[in-house]
Amino acid sequence: MRVLVTGGAGYIGSHTVVALVEAGHEVRVVDSLVNAHRASLDRVRTITGVDVPLHVTDLRDADALGKIFADGSFEAVVHFAGLKAVGESVAQPLRYYDNNLGSTISLLQVMERHGVDALVFSSSATVYGVHDAVDAMPLREDLPLGAVNPYGETKVQIERILTDVADADDRLRFAVLRYFNPVGAHPSGLIGEDPQGIPNNLVPYLAQVAVGRREKLLVFGDDYPTPDGTGVRDYIHVMDLADGHVAALAHLAEFPGANAWNLGTGRGSSVYEVLHAFERAVGHELPYEVTARRPGDAPVSYCDPGKAERDLGWRAVRSLDQMCADHWHWQRDNPNGYAAD
Ligand code: NAD
Ligand code: UFG
Repeated sequence: MRVLVTGGAGYIGSHTVVALVEAGHEVRVVDSLVNAHRASLDRVRTITGVDVPLHVTDLRDADALGKIFADGSFEAVVHFAGLKAVGESVAQPLRYYDNNLGSTISLLQVMERHGVDALVFSSSATVYGVHDAVDAMPLREDLPLGAVNPYGETKVQIERILTDVADADDRLRFAVLRYFNPVGAHPSGLIGEDPQGIPNNLVPYLAQVAVGRREKLLVFGDDYPTPDGTGVRDYIHVMDLADGHVAALAHLAEFPGANAWNLGTGRGSSVYEVLHAFERAVGHELPYEVTARRPGDAPVSYCDPGKAERDLGWRAVRSLDQMCADHWHWQRDNPNGYAAD
């Protein structure tokens, strides 16, 4: 298939471009580079041997986007482009609504004009809101949606827009993929997550502690109602996630309308379990200190990934140790991310 990947220079996008190229798809990327380096796609070329064209364009520029579509005769779009930092979305809500909703609406309009019917969209576990009850797990796709911050609200609203647009035109096929906690990197160590500033998420933070850029991990609370008191999440290897997009594209024709699938392992791991898995990858202990809970954090979040297995024939296969080993390989070989390129 000829596939346009929006946000394809970013973390999950670049890994998915590798998986799509290796599955035989012809891929182009559009990315504004607001949170990415073009070096990621140079590294994709090293991995795959294929030069994936990059259009440096903001999706909200519908004229420029239209030219890319006129040239590309795409059969499907995989839409990663968006801003994703929860705290930043609370401080700058208009920027988040404008970027995430504006870019998706512009994309859908250009797709309509060019007769492109198939879209895979990056949604998030955040659309389920925060469940304080541990027995609300595992999270299934038919739960009511409810975001707790502007970032999450953009995902809920985009899901609703996709449903309405698909309801109005029975040719459309939209796969809404709700990612749990993506971590890890391509096993080559050539591409990976390169957060700007202080990492918000556990594994990128741990990786920077391990490489000496941060002093110690701060464990946000050890008094949750979980086996060891720390927060539990459903971490998924980014290459499993990438394979999930290839599977969604392969099966999209079977599912009219807008349909949602969880992409996770279905297993929860605590902060201490992740810390110890990362220590095994690095080969020594890492410093940490327990501090107060982070406001807005759920005690536990993990999914039921059964629908994706039944419908898409996909399931996550890589272990937490593999996630940490691959994440560490990337961080060790690229202590300052893509900055040196
Ligand atoms: P990322 O920031 O690395 O990638 C997003 C890419 O989109 C970046 O390359 C950025 O430059 C680009 N972009 C942003 N706005 C754009 C615009 N208006 N026009 C063109 N390009 C634009 O983030 P990621 O971790 O790879 O996440 C990809 C998608 O998955 C996002 O939509 C994110 O919300 C979603 N998601 C991520 C996670 C996670 O933990 N990483 C979890 C759930 C969902
Ligand atoms: N944690 C720490 N120390 C840190 C960072 C995180 O102890 O420095 C803990 C958190 O309290 C939580 C766990 O590690 O228990 C995972 O935290 P992350 O920030 O890595 O992941 P979250 O599940 O909290 O957040 C992710 C995405 C958000 C998304 C949210 C809900 O980063 O974008 O899932 O789906 F909104």
